[in-house]
Amino acid sequence: MKIVVLAGGTSPERDVSLSTGTMIYKALKSKGHQVLLLDVYLGYEGDIIDIFNKEKDWAQGIGTIREDNPDIEHIRALRKDNPNHFFGPGVIDICDKADIVFLALHGTNGEDGKVQAALDLMGIKYTGTDYASSSLAMDKSVTKELFAYYNIPTPEGIHVRKGETYSWDRYPCVVKVNNGGSSVGVSVVNTPNEMDAAIKNALSYGDEVIIEQYIKGREFAVGVISGKALPVIEIAPLTGFYDYKNKYQAGNAIETCPADLSPTLTAKMQEIAEKVFHALRLKTYARMDFLLNDKNELYCLEANTLPGMTPTSLLPQEAKAVGIDFTDLCELIIEISLEKYK
Ligand SMILES: Nc1ncnc2c1ncn2[C@@H]1O[C@H](COP(=O)(O)OP(=O)(O)O)[C@@H](O)[C@H]1O
Ligand SMILES: [Mg+2]
Repeated sequence: MKIVVLAGGTSPERDVSLSTGTMIYKALKSKGHQVLLLDVYLGYEGDIIDIFNKEKDWAQGIGTIREDNPDIEHIRALRKDNPNHFFGPGVIDICDKADIVFLALHGTNGEDGKVQAALDLMGIKYTGTDYASSSLAMDKSVTKELFAYYNIPTPEGIHVRKGETYSWDRYPCVVKVNNGGSSVGVSVVNTPNEMDAAIKNALSYGDEVIIEQYIKGREFAVGVISGKALPVIEIAPLTGFYDYKNKYQAGNAIETCPADLSPTLTAKMQEIAEKVFHALRLKTYARMDFLLNDKNELYCLEANTLPGMTPTSLLPQEAKAVGIDFTDLCELIIEISLEKYK
């Protein structure tokens, strides 16, 4: 198959996406597909005639995930044409020649449904869920409202727009970007006097924030493929919470799959994950994040519609626990994504 892996972009999760994209590219190539890896924002300026037969290592020169967020202004300065165009030179024309585009994007534009909608309008097929469910899942406050409607347990919280007054008096609490990801802009706030700084930090990534009760306990994730939950994985950061650094620097968190949990709690978490998949109208695959407190009460934090996809990412580890290796998982995602178009 002719496949374009789209990665990069301009979200704070750019580096994570390039890493996901590189791994998917290598996996699909090893299966004999004609694969290209493109930075969606920087594009490709060479000749695109017969591009799928070009002898080129498209993964060359793609960096690793640094400890802090990428410098997006620096990336924008590299664009010689209009830096406000999300799709870089050649990207749409190249995608148009592919049988499917594998979306390895994360965060704003990539995971929130806009790219999906643009590709729909161009008649270009892509992996993962559709534009509407992507945007529902990306919006943490809308997700919370749907969770309430479907009786899906989630921490109590409020949604605050920039400049809006709010009232909140439960501490500790968590402040996060409403449309964020990868824990970027997330703070645990212990006392009222830390609140302003946490909100200011979250607002530097978006105009809306969520304030939520802090749940003390263990953290888990559950991947769902075609509506069916995978085994549960536990994530235990060595220090602090599951922030950006603990997510992407090897060795900062202990990950256990299948998680050491009672069969009852395992089944309950999987059932909730499947319910979330349904509630948010998700298609193909996704990964839900969970917390469990010491009273064995479960809370679903969110759904990730384009979850991390390196062989050591959470969903691939869960798939591996049921015998699906990383390369097969990449092909499976393509297969179930093509079903959207039948
Ligand atoms: N209510 C909460 N109580 C305790 N920890 C939380 C809470 N919300 C988020 N966290 C921590 O912050 C991380 C990121 O939060 P999450 O809601 O999953 O947003 P995202 O992953 O999109 O940035 C979680 O993985 C968890 O470690
Ligand atoms: Mg999360």
